[in-house]
Amino acid sequence: MSAFGTIRMATDEDVPAIARLVNEAFLAEDFIVGDRTNAEQLRELMRKGTFFLLEEAGALIASIYTEVRGERGYFGMLAVEPSRQGTGCGRRMIEEVERRSKIAGCRMMDLKVLSPRTNLLPIYQKLGYEISGREEFHNTRPLKGVTECYCILMSKAL
Ligand SMILES: CC(C)(COP(=O)(O)OP(=O)(O)OC[C@H]1O[C@@H](n2cnc3c(N)ncnc32)[C@H](O)[C@@H]1OP(=O)(O)O)[C@@H](O)C(=O)NCCC(=O)NCCS
Repeated sequence: MSAFGTIRMATDEDVPAIARLVNEAFLAEDFIVGDRTNAEQLRELMRKGTFFLLEEAGALIASIYTEVRGERGYFGMLAVEPSRQGTGCGRRMIEEVERRSKIAGCRMMDLKVLSPRTNLLPIYQKLGYEISGREEFHNTRPLKGVTECYCILMSKAL
């Protein structure tokens, strides 16, 4: 099944459902102990940027956070409901935020991948992103099973 649903902007009422989806999808990030996010963090992000949701028949399938930073767009916390991963939902969400960022005047799009998750690099490369740098990972949660974790920056011209 491909990504047929509709995409809409999230509101404060969506926060609990986004937190559930993100925490479930990010169980894949098992080298960091604890939940990926919580309602408080999501509400703080919503003051700076926007979450978009993909829904099918009222069910939340995917979410993505995006921010416009001058001429650069940023997206993060991309989460696809586990049973729907690999069916084009991630691509659809990324294309949506790229389109919106371009309309907002952005020339580049940025994202970050945590270094232990090398399996994500080919996915983003397939969507046109290239490694553009690295930065320190500021994290309050303990790491498990990895000695090193930093952010790999990836960028794409829009
Ligand atoms: C990572 C994630 C967001 C990707 O979303 P998805 O819906 O599973 O991905 P899609 O099905 O849209 O695939 C995107 C593209 O990557 C390609 N792809 C997928 N796995 C790949 C792999 N191992 N190697 C190369 N390309 C791959 C797909 O073929 C697709 O390209 P296509 O449309 O040209 O066929 C999703 O799997 C997820 O939620 N994972 C858990 C949370 C997470 O890790 N978020 C990202 C943190 S940075």
